[in-house]
Amino acid sequence: MKNFINLKDISTTDLRKILNDAKKRKEKRKKLSTLEFDKDQPLKGKLLIQMYEKPSSRTRLSFHIAINQLGANSITVKASELHLGKGDESIADTAKILSTYGDGFLLRTDSDKKIEDFSKSLKIPIINLLSPSSHPCQVLSDIFTVEEIKKKPISKLNICWIGDCNNVLNSLIAASVKFKFNLNIACPKNYRPPNFVMEWVKKNKGKINIFNDPKKAAKNADVVFSDKVFSLNDKGNKAKKIKDFKNYRVNSKLMKFTRPNSIFLHCLPRGNEVSEEVFLGKHSRVWQQALNRVHVQKSIMLYSFGKLG
Ligand code: CP
Ligand code: NVA
Repeated sequence: MKNFINLKDISTTDLRKILNDAKKRKEKRKKLSTLEFDKDQPLKGKLLIQMYEKPSSRTRLSFHIAINQLGANSITVKASELHLGKGDESIADTAKILSTYGDGFLLRTDSDKKIEDFSKSLKIPIINLLSPSSHPCQVLSDIFTVEEIKKKPISKLNICWIGDCNNVLNSLIAASVKFKFNLNIACPKNYRPPNFVMEWVKKNKGKINIFNDPKKAAKNADVVFSDKVFSLNDKGNKAKKIKDFKNYRVNSKLMKFTRPNSIFLHCLPRGNEVSEEVFLGKHSRVWQQALNRVHVQKSIMLYSFGKLG
């Protein structure tokens, strides 16, 4: 059994195996409808327990479908309805109970420490469905989408991020080191990635450039990523932060600096950080991006259960 908590802690070989498996599985079920099983039903008989401490549309639904396609079953619990959230049951006892009834635990949380604490007491794999510091399922799936559309390894492409240095960007930074791709980041000076992140990048020979000017970051980009300015776990003054990012909006003018066949990706939900014209325009692949979460998350679960092809 293997946890899937942070891309930094997973080998490139394993990440590549997940992507290859997802590609094969997606290809094989082209003619099947949403809830038809993959032929091999590799997780038949298993129960996956999902828990959300924060809202989710895509992650919740895509995992529900993914779990069903693998032949397993899922139950989603709300943190506020468990003794853990409302009462005083400890994480250790909750983890023991989850391990007794379930085969895997999928957690979206407002605390990285909670994932760590759960992982210490669980006897089943845990998958991170978004934490304050990372969103590994989203980003691995996005790498899949980029390579599917561009038909080449991501290491041969220029990737650009315009906006906040948040959980999704942290995972993209980890991915840029693992898959060795160029990553240009544009953000205001006061919002740059923290030193410990950049030190990790340097130590691991990452290729990351940080710009104040979004036009410079977007120049010759093959892929432009953006995400909302104020994340689920953000605290502080929302209006001020949004104002600080007013020059970091992805619009048609900015997209002109990218390569002619560049694509725009956004994990959703969106805010004002991208114009309607770009979000719904010719560069955008956001719906394909959302759908691919189903395929990649299946292979992430198979990785966790030691069942990758
Ligand atoms: N992109 C993403 O994780 O969306 P949800 O918050 O709706 O799950
Ligand atoms: N950065 C965003 C991602 C949402 C899927 C957040 O954490 O709210």
